[in-house]
Amino acid sequence: MKTPVFVQLHRDSAEHIRQELIHGLTADAQPGGATVSPKFLYDALGSRLFEAITELPEYYPTRTEAAIFRVHARAMSQAVPKDATLIDLGAGNCGKAAGLFGAFCPRRYVAVDISVDFLRATLDMLQRQYPSMEMVGIGLDFSQALDLPAELGQPGAGPRVLFYPGSSIGNFSPAQALVFLRQVREACGPLAGSGLLIGVDLVKDATELEAAYDDTLGVTAAFNRNLISNVNRLVGTDMRLADWAHLALFNRLESRIEMHLVAQRDLTVRWPGGQRAFSRGERIHTENSYKWTVAGFSKLLLEAGFAEPLVWTDAPTADAGRFAVMWAGA
Ligand SMILES: C[S@@+](CC[C@H](N)C(=O)[O-])C[C@H]1O[C@@H](n2cnc3c(N)ncnc32)[C@H](O)[C@@H]1O
Repeated sequence: MKTPVFVQLHRDSAEHIRQELIHGLTADAQPGGATVSPKFLYDALGSRLFEAITELPEYYPTRTEAAIFRVHARAMSQAVPKDATLIDLGAGNCGKAAGLFGAFCPRRYVAVDISVDFLRATLDMLQRQYPSMEMVGIGLDFSQALDLPAELGQPGAGPRVLFYPGSSIGNFSPAQALVFLRQVREACGPLAGSGLLIGVDLVKDATELEAAYDDTLGVTAAFNRNLISNVNRLVGTDMRLADWAHLALFNRLESRIEMHLVAQRDLTVRWPGGQRAFSRGERIHTENSYKWTVAGFSKLLLEAGFAEPLVWTDAPTADAGRFAVMWAGA
């Protein structure tokens, strides 16, 4: 049996992470006030809570995307090159990529994620299921730059299939998404056949969207509030879980779901060397999840340098779909 190779890239220093978080927490001047990047939702517990979210009846994206992969696997396998290096961005539990191994027959699987301990454990398990596949785990925060190791382009590595499912692209604003997709296009490398397979959540009714991010069992609330424990650990803040409530709302003007933590009373958050007062009702903005139209996202892919994408959705016509999977050749 092969063993997965792990590479940890560009880990920010603890002080750099602390400064980034303090900057966000004290950012009164920004529209919307305090912010914390959604990447801080994913400590080891956050990754497990996200797995639980994907099982919830209200959380349609995972199920809908899985159904699209199931129904259109054959058509996808005709577009996506075989024997490629499959590079899974924000791999999580690696389950979606593993589900496509049969259709795409990759020669190598590269899983990239910021949540390194979780990734290590899942990749070890996956290797036992696929003992002869070459597997590489990369610990990387790609929110600043998608710098993949040069060795991935070694001779004979085959074309590259960049895989970015789950509509994680929605965490980026449209301008940031364009910058990121250009980096993904670059990361596809020069070999013919390479490209990007991406899952994109589509604009829909606000009630369905808000329920998906505020389920009745409260798992998404726990996922959002777990960020408080992670920030306390990373910054030394003294935030109490009981003081913060989960809020999810659809901002139609921006076409995005927003997640916030809302202060339940007037309070002061303290950390070594600083503090910040929050009034009751004041928010910390923790995640955006932009919703796209098929036409809008196809245009973005073209602007980023990809070819006209192939599009599969859960409806007979793309416009009626709730979720889209797109293959864009590089
Ligand atoms: C919404 S989950 C999606 C997981 C899986 N790909 C899926 O579709 O079910 C987002 C994943 O991206 C990872 N992630 C979030 N921000 C990241 C960043 N800045 N750099 C690398 N990985 C990140 C998280 O740890 C998590 O595993």
